[in-house]
Amino acid sequence: MNTSNVDVLVIFGVTGDLAHKMTIPALYRLEQAGYLQCPVVGVALEPWTLDRLIEEFRAALGKAGEEVNDRIFESLATKLSYVHGDFSDRDTYSRLKEVIGVYHNPLYYLEIPPSLFASVIHELSSVDLTSKGKFLIEKPFGTDLASAKMLNDTLHEMIEEEQILRIDHFLGKQPILDISYLRFANEIVEPMLSREHVDSIQITMAEDFGVEDRGSFYDRVGAVRDVVQNHLLQVLSLITMEIPTGQNYGAIWDKKADILRAVVPMDPKTSVFGQYEGYLEVPGVFPSSQTETYVATKVFIENWRWYGVPVFIRAGKALAVRATELRVIFKKAPHLSYVKDLGHLPPNEMILRVDPNPSLRLTLASKDAVGSRGRVVSLDLPFAEELGRLPLPYERLIHDALSGEYSLFTREDSVEESWRIVQPLLDPEKSLISYKKGSLGPLEANALCKGYLGWQNPWL
Ligand code: BG6
Repeated sequence: MNTSNVDVLVIFGVTGDLAHKMTIPALYRLEQAGYLQCPVVGVALEPWTLDRLIEEFRAALGKAGEEVNDRIFESLATKLSYVHGDFSDRDTYSRLKEVIGVYHNPLYYLEIPPSLFASVIHELSSVDLTSKGKFLIEKPFGTDLASAKMLNDTLHEMIEEEQILRIDHFLGKQPILDISYLRFANEIVEPMLSREHVDSIQITMAEDFGVEDRGSFYDRVGAVRDVVQNHLLQVLSLITMEIPTGQNYGAIWDKKADILRAVVPMDPKTSVFGQYEGYLEVPGVFPSSQTETYVATKVFIENWRWYGVPVFIRAGKALAVRATELRVIFKKAPHLSYVKDLGHLPPNEMILRVDPNPSLRLTLASKDAVGSRGRVVSLDLPFAEELGRLPLPYERLIHDALSGEYSLFTREDSVEESWRIVQPLLDPEKSLISYKKGSLGPLEANALCKGYLGWQNPWL
């Protein structure tokens, strides 16, 4: 890994939920690995002392189940400082400047509501703190195509596109990173990925928990905005894009934007929306909410490589299982009379399990030990066993932002293309189908796959 060129990390919203659950464990892991080489300044409204912030760091690590080594924690604690104040008060920024004015290359991590992005950057610029900074920006980036464009325009009035690092934590997950390696470093994989050999692709993100304490956030968002526009379209772009050329991180951004431009907008007529029973009782949810907690849809890519190959995408909360996977389903091999009794076998599949237990599986047909019938065998590769401890997604992404490696962040064109693709699903007159908690979602979703291998139960 590179050494840092960022000389101070400033976290806006350091007292918030995301910081507690994700950022603090990631910072600890970076400290443990020796990669956190700059001071960390937290900024938030709470009138905490530095000691209180340090206590909160320790508590957050405890909650995350991290085994804390005192020496490493002390070393992390000595890097911390805290500036409290209202984000709309210029005095907060003047005090921040006193703390970070001696540094030249700040990384600002905005873990704050998107409605505050512009005003925080504006205030930073009013005290002359933006010109050398990079800005790590949390999702959601916009709520539809128009608002994403407007947000991009507003930010570009104050800072350059090159200064913006839009986070999608899925891109920090090992199996997602591995998609490019699997494809572009393996002669036996890449040539198979096209309409000649692939029948369909399935992307599933099933969660076995509901909206819990995030009712007021989720009810304004729904499954399409929450995970399809960002996480799942990123997965789609990685498995279908052309090979990036050149070494610059812009190369991958170009190819992702290219493939997303070729994706036909999603169609409400070939989509199924569901809401789990009991969702309306979740605190913060509007009593007659029409927000979907489940969506299944079918998309097509209009380019030479993928023409006619459907990509089925489904995502839902409160389902029977927690499983995120990418499944490439190949065409059936011709069944020649020499190789008998294969007709009953399903086609080959390449399954990348993202969560839980990142792994890769290839299914192949082989001969049964007795008789002449064929059977399916699986070649499984559990990543954790092969690769050892995998970095947490936020650990990897913060590391990359600190060290100037930007390929895992998303550029404005991909974000806008993704919104274009999901736009027709955002507020259609949708007929919501109620489904039971602990089920696999509305059965109506099965009809989407007509003519193709139906939805496959996730590989658990
Ligand atoms: C977040 C969504 O972006 O991703 C959540 O807001 C979702 O609703 C989460 O649960 C899933 O992430 P992971 O890493 O747990 O699969």
